[in-house]
Amino acid sequence: MSRKPLISGNWKMNLNHFEAIQCVQKLSYLLTKDDYAAVDVSVHPPFTDIRSVQTVIDADELLMQLGAQHCHWEEKGAFTGEIAPAFLSKLNVKYVIVGHSERRELFAETDEMVNKKVAAVLANQMTPIMCVGETLEEREAGQTEAKVLGQVRAGLAGRKADQVATMVIAYEPVWAIGTGRNATPEDAQAVCSAIRGEVGQLFGADTAAAVRIQYGGSVKAGTVAELMRQADIDGALVGGASLDPDEFARIVNFRNL
Ligand code: 13P
Repeated sequence: MSRKPLISGNWKMNLNHFEAIQCVQKLSYLLTKDDYAAVDVSVHPPFTDIRSVQTVIDADELLMQLGAQHCHWEEKGAFTGEIAPAFLSKLNVKYVIVGHSERRELFAETDEMVNKKVAAVLANQMTPIMCVGETLEEREAGQTEAKVLGQVRAGLAGRKADQVATMVIAYEPVWAIGTGRNATPEDAQAVCSAIRGEVGQLFGADTAAAVRIQYGGSVKAGTVAELMRQADIDGALVGGASLDPDEFARIVNFRNL
């Protein structure tokens, strides 16, 4: 089974378009062809930066891939402030984060909305990075698997096995995001293995073997290598550390750490 690792930088609401261009250029000087051969790399800037970053990627023929942090599920219409999936695919966006815990918590995104977005992103020939994760209270109450697997089932309901096989699922324990606390590699592996098991139950063994599962939550250069050694962790969704090109490049280089 060979799942190419995917290291993604979620910039959240940071970096204007000038800063975004600088960040991508600095990162591009630090990454080599060998890095891209070994690892897929995506950056997920705010919407207002995407066109600028696309232009840099195209002009300099960079091998990093463009991502978005969010989108709406409808094709067009009276949805003030929202962005349609087709607007993103037109800008060569490849990956769209769906159901990030900050969207779920701060902007009331429900499993039902996540499900519609997953379908819309796939229908527009992009790859959803569907986020799942438990809160600290849920973890302490022993509900981690129930919560996470419930989100997996709800988000993937109605999808076909060949669609799910192309997807990325990001396990991001809410208590580990932006806190400097990351799940131990063993704990993260246990949950990622349960996610893969659930995908297997729902869509079959081939799909489970193909779907990529990222870990996210306070990933740093100092912690990434051990996480990436786990059998069911195929990548990392990196927040804060992705804003520093040196640190993010070290994370992409986890195989040499
Ligand atoms: P941090 O790496 O800043 O904890 O953020 C993780 C995250 O939410 C990535 O989507």
